[in-house]
Amino acid sequence: MQEKKPIIVTSALPYANGPLHLGHLAGAYLTADFFVRYLRLKGEDVVFICGSDEHGVPITIAAEKEGVNPQDIVDRYHEWNKDTFERMGISFDYYGRTSSKIHYETSQEIFKTLYDKGFFSTKTEEHFYDEDAQMFLPDRYVKGECPNCSYPEAYGDQCEKCGNSLHPTDLINPISALSGKAPLRKETQHWYMPLGKAQAKLEEWLDSREGWKSNVSGQVRSWLQEGLNDRAATRDLTWGVPVPLEDAEGKVLYVWFEAPIGYISATKEWALKRNKPEEWRKYWQNPDAKLYHFIGKDNIVFHCIMFPIILMEHGNYVLPENVPANEFLNLEGKKLSTSRGWAVWLHNYVDHFEADLLRYALGVTLPETKDSDFSWKDFQARVNNELVAVLGNFIHRTMSFTEKYADAKVPPLSNPKDVDLAVLEAITLQKEKVEAAFEQFKFREALQESMQLARIGNKYFSDTEPWKSKDSDIESCHNTLHVSAQVVAALSILFDPIIPSSMAKLRAQIGYDGAISWENIGTDLLKVGQKLQKAEILFTKIEDEQIQMELDKLEAQLNNNASDAESEKTIDYPNIKDPINFDDFMAMDLRVGIIKEVTEVPKSNKLLAFKVDIGIETRTIVSGIKKHVQIDRLIGQKVTVICNLAPRMIMGMESKGMILMAESPDGNLHFVTSEAAEGSLLS
Ligand code: 2FM
Ligand code: ZN
Repeated sequence: MQEKKPIIVTSALPYANGPLHLGHLAGAYLTADFFVRYLRLKGEDVVFICGSDEHGVPITIAAEKEGVNPQDIVDRYHEWNKDTFERMGISFDYYGRTSSKIHYETSQEIFKTLYDKGFFSTKTEEHFYDEDAQMFLPDRYVKGECPNCSYPEAYGDQCEKCGNSLHPTDLINPISALSGKAPLRKETQHWYMPLGKAQAKLEEWLDSREGWKSNVSGQVRSWLQEGLNDRAATRDLTWGVPVPLEDAEGKVLYVWFEAPIGYISATKEWALKRNKPEEWRKYWQNPDAKLYHFIGKDNIVFHCIMFPIILMEHGNYVLPENVPANEFLNLEGKKLSTSRGWAVWLHNYVDHFEADLLRYALGVTLPETKDSDFSWKDFQARVNNELVAVLGNFIHRTMSFTEKYADAKVPPLSNPKDVDLAVLEAITLQKEKVEAAFEQFKFREALQESMQLARIGNKYFSDTEPWKSKDSDIESCHNTLHVSAQVVAALSILFDPIIPSSMAKLRAQIGYDGAISWENIGTDLLKVGQKLQKAEILFTKIEDEQIQMELDKLEAQLNNNASDAESEKTIDYPNIKDPINFDDFMAMDLRVGIIKEVTEVPKSNKLLAFKVDIGIETRTIVSGIKKHVQIDRLIGQKVTVICNLAPRMIMGMESKGMILMAESPDGNLHFVTSEAAEGSLLS
């Protein structure tokens, strides 16, 4: 038998800087898992690799926000995300991390090989440097005024107000986000990848690729048309893989140089774990091996241009066969945004629903060639109208009829009619359609064609009316049940890549203990006389209340984040007033007073009339602070009074002096109180 070609499937390494959400799943993980599970059923020699991307500015920013070390952040989210993937049924063979020793060694070795081959060019340039923090500032760490829209809080790489990409030196009045001071400009040397020089070779290789998705090849083509520029492979940072050169102290490999190498390092670790330390070479250093990168569209340039050039220049690695990138997923018609709280967190999802339900519902609306939308109502409809009403219903009616009218055993097929044979043939036809869709990375189609077999089964069941034939023609009734049972068994494999845990349950129910192999779909999977277990409901209807709860949760997240953002907003303090001289200040008579009495002022919803004891006397002061105070808590409150302000008539009352109030940034007024006794003079 011809040996199968080794296959490596990778999913983009998510940054270990936060939990995973629906957008992650729809981008790089669900489709990869469908594909890998399908390949495994086909008996392919496949290894499925992922892990945490633990370096780069996203990690250090998350650490700073929380006031912890980057190591704390990556340790937390690595474990958390690994667990969430497992709960979602994503079946990686190995989930590595880029902080591992093997990854350091592997990425340094690849850098060093390219260096020794003379691949890099060096450039010395001025970069912003924070003297207090004693470090060069990553672009994100420089803030200032946007030259395009004057937004005062623009970052050195992008203005979040107008969306323009920036260079830190574009900013007007740049400051360091670390110290808040103006950074210095200091010279630093870096190693650059001259991607332009490799462009011709890259294009030749890209031309030899077949079957790439149009959204991917389109984006690659447009990058190439613009011409590739040099890209730095090193950074001035402390968090990352140190540059393995003597004159590179304080420098690390650029995260996008080393993170994709994480796929190789993780495969090495997987091989080690299996006690076959050299096995990784069969996948990565074998011209026959096939490499597939599953990613989101924002990673296309790195996986289709930069990483292939690195591998090509190294010379000893396989290049990707295909990079089936997905577009972006929107949520309830709006762009997903973790900072605004507009996201469905996967760990929350699996606390409330079965992973399989989302795998199916998201699988049929994946952003395969253009952005798509996830809505909770659509999720409910997919579950109720398809998983429950089509697939679940067909399985259940087949099993419960067999239980009732065939003693819970698969009955024989005798003198089948065309209608019976057509359905048996449909199994193979649907299998072929699903297969073709998987091979072309058309996952939505693969799911729809899988469901189509259940629809065919339902129609057949209804058309042949076994509830009637059980009395009039038992042979025909048994034929319906025999054929339906074979369809159910075929579905349990056909749907296995998509909803694996439900299909494992189903196989247990029908007592299928044969090989779970793709090639078996279309053969008689169940023997005549095979005992079926009691029919258990596989999918339950989702009620409106459950969906409403999820929608409410989303709104609440959005509101919480809005108020967080509110409290983080910079405050516009009024400018300091013009200077006064000391005598002007001393001319003011400021004393501590105590409130003795409060009365409401008729016809005014602002004013209150106070009797304030200022030691020397008790005065009437009218003040417009009604909406800022609780009237029943005012007696005994110490306040500060300006006592020599000329008296004023307010609503027919003489007000002598003024109670001082402090206005907080939210516009509320607060007493300026003192611990000193009433009558004490302020100076
Ligand atoms: O975009 C991201 O989330 C990156 N962490 C993906 C890295 S993929 C690979 F190169 F490691
Ligand atoms: Zn701007």
